[in-house]
Amino acid sequence: MASDNEWQVAGRRKGASSRKKKTSTVAAVDLPVPEAGDSHRDQQRIIQTLNELRGEDFWSEWKDLLTGRLSDTGSYRGQTGVQIECLQDCVCYGLGSFSTCVSARYQLALLLLLLDALKIPVEHCSVYDPVFSLTELETLRALGFSVLTENEEGKRAVRQPTLFYLMHCGKALYNNLLWKNWSSQALPKLLIIGNSFHGIQERMLQRELQRDYAYLSTVMSVCEETALPCSQRFLDVFNDTALICFTPQSLSQLPESTWVDPEEPQYQHCPDLEIIRREQR
Ligand SMILES: C[S@@+](CC[C@H](N)C(=O)[O-])C[C@H]1O[C@@H](n2cnc3c(N)ncnc32)[C@H](O)[C@@H]1O
Repeated sequence: MASDNEWQVAGRRKGASSRKKKTSTVAAVDLPVPEAGDSHRDQQRIIQTLNELRGEDFWSEWKDLLTGRLSDTGSYRGQTGVQIECLQDCVCYGLGSFSTCVSARYQLALLLLLLDALKIPVEHCSVYDPVFSLTELETLRALGFSVLTENEEGKRAVRQPTLFYLMHCGKALYNNLLWKNWSSQALPKLLIIGNSFHGIQERMLQRELQRDYAYLSTVMSVCEETALPCSQRFLDVFNDTALICFTPQSLSQLPESTWVDPEEPQYQHCPDLEIIRREQR
């Protein structure tokens, strides 16, 4: 990040013209070609958006709430299983096409603010969305992110405390993430900023939630969920968002049998699964 107050985009490098030559080679094999300069323009728009969000009251509230929840001091007093100084990794799935979609751009700008506030280096943040264009991938790399090239379907096992940023993502991404970390030792290492689990529960029939998203359904009763406020202006962008975590104490309420032989979710009853799955080899 450029400074404590304002972000800036690094100037375009001299090699830009030689990159242009390379893209014409790519065009010959019919891959999408980023237009020269698009990524630079997108970076500037993201930084402008970030500087705009920085002045929003709801962002100050998010920051206080998050830093409070993750530290031993303050009114929220460390109510997650994760301490702020141990949180050094982040994964963002399902951001969407931020060069064409304003909501996704605001969400990306907010992710940068979050990383800065939580002191997570941008390069420790992995991002993936199957819809990213080549230009968007270039922009994300230029901003410092680690861009994932494989569709993990959310099945990422964590070894250390990790923030997951899943804004308005399909339920299967959450369910897969929970399955991959299905133990009372691993779940407390997850910190999720995403769709409210309680909101999901309210919108679905209990029977279908249990059948199709068993892991999500099981943790509903024991997760610690804190609603993250959203101003009227950004309702479409940040509505229904919560900070979700799992403490060892709350997980201990579940019977031991909960953790035995967790089966990989198959979603055979979900013809309209909201996520894009990896190609079967
Ligand atoms: C409902 S959209 C949300 C987009 C944006 N975050 C917003 O709020 O407008 C869900 C996003 O999840 C992405 N997605 C689908 N399958 C995914 C996967 N396997 N891994 C990561 N992202 C995925 C989609 O491409 C899409 O951009």
